[in-house]
Amino acid sequence: MTHRGSILLVDDEEKILKALGRALRDAGHLVVETASPRQAQRLLGERTFDVLLVDNMMPELSGLDLIREFVASTPEGERPQILMMTAHATVESALEAMKLGALDYLQKPFEIDELLVVVRRALEHQRLRTDYRYLVNERDEQFDHYGIVGRSRAMEEVIKRAELVAETKSTVLITGETGTGKELVARAIHDRSAQRDMPLIKVNCAAIPETLLESELFGHVRGAFTGATTTKKGKFALADGGSIFLDEIGTMSPTLQSKLLRVLQEREVEPLGSERTEKIDVRVIAATNRDLRQMVADGKFQEDLFYRLNVIPIEIPPLRERRDDIPALVEHFVKKHAQRTGRRFDKMDDSVLAGLQQYDWPGNVRELENTIERAVVLSPGPVITARAVSVLGGPAQQPAGLPSLKLRQNIEWVERETIRRALENAGGVKKDAAELMGISQRALSYYLAKYRLES
Ligand SMILES: Nc1ncnc2c1ncn2[C@@H]1O[C@H](COP(=O)(O)OP(=O)(O)OP(=O)(O)O)[C@@H](O)[C@H]1O
Ligand SMILES: [Mg+2]
Repeated sequence: MTHRGSILLVDDEEKILKALGRALRDAGHLVVETASPRQAQRLLGERTFDVLLVDNMMPELSGLDLIREFVASTPEGERPQILMMTAHATVESALEAMKLGALDYLQKPFEIDELLVVVRRALEHQRLRTDYRYLVNERDEQFDHYGIVGRSRAMEEVIKRAELVAETKSTVLITGETGTGKELVARAIHDRSAQRDMPLIKVNCAAIPETLLESELFGHVRGAFTGATTTKKGKFALADGGSIFLDEIGTMSPTLQSKLLRVLQEREVEPLGSERTEKIDVRVIAATNRDLRQMVADGKFQEDLFYRLNVIPIEIPPLRERRDDIPALVEHFVKKHAQRTGRRFDKMDDSVLAGLQQYDWPGNVRELENTIERAVVLSPGPVITARAVSVLGGPAQQPAGLPSLKLRQNIEWVERETIRRALENAGGVKKDAAELMGISQRALSYYLAKYRLES
């Protein structure tokens, strides 16, 4: 198996630097080269690499000192694998480097093949470490209420209820505006229940045309209707022994509401075209962003069904009513997306966090997550700035949520990403990137300057 990785290569001798860089690139790795150890230190602070390959004898700063300083300032889990290159006379330093945590060393002069083998091993080590860290992270998340972040009293209440109801088989009705985490809570309930090894089947009642929803839910036999060429199991049958998540229940038609009510009362389903009913043992979790009580009052939702569903209500308040949750959510999403992009973020401007806490978040947690993901992509360095946060609209912190401003920033984001990716695909060759996008080189130069993509 070949592992390709990102490598920071540091050697003050330009000729060696170029030759090694080329060899590693030919082997498929992404290489950043620098002849300056100081520059290397900056790079290490700005982004993550899988391997740091560093020469020892350099006038500005020795490889050993570079490693020493780096190791002292960076926790082990965030370091690349370190490899040192050394001349025969300084093998001592290489051993010293290994005591500090370097994985291996190469004694100059060495063959390219030897280099490639050592690098490949380092990448394998790094891969194992990342996988391990990922697992540990996942485990932590599970203890952390299955990924539900929430410090506010309101969310603590939601989590407590979810935990309690998980132990029962009661029907749950989760309500809340869009993006408040209804699906997340539904999953958490299922994953904590005694039925967690059985399936959780999701049905989005709004996404399936009314005519199909019935057979989707209850199944049908062959010949039940035109086009029913085979017998099909319904979602209720598939969820047997587990849970069914009925999302957007408020959009269900009156006819289907009656049929669902019967299923919940009788605990059995009748597939379309079949004369036989099937017993089912399924926990029902329903969710909606509508006000079902009001719909009942307006005659749009069956009262009996409402009470059947509303056995254990869980109401998730909108984010603007639990602003205490925002800092923890921001931290959670920065970590999540920084990890995915392989970059490091140390902090966020205080003014940015304050702005995020003041904004009203009509799209709730989903909008917050999207905003943070974008900010992580847009921020060049380890600090997330207001400029990168769309809802704040730049450093002056204009009033949040001006639609035109937001739209413009969305467009700019798309533009910038398109160009960045085209450049990446073209291996940094501008002429090819321009061609990929079907724009002139002159236009490309303009965008590169506009988005400061020029290296
Ligand atoms: N408390 C939370 N902690 C961590 N992530 C959250 C939290 N709440 C929501 N999210 C995340 O926000 C996103 C939206 O959540 P989810 O899909 O559960 O919302 P929803 O209420 O079902 O929205 P909709 O009504 O639009 O379907 C998901 O990516 C989810 O993981
Ligand atoms: Mg949802």
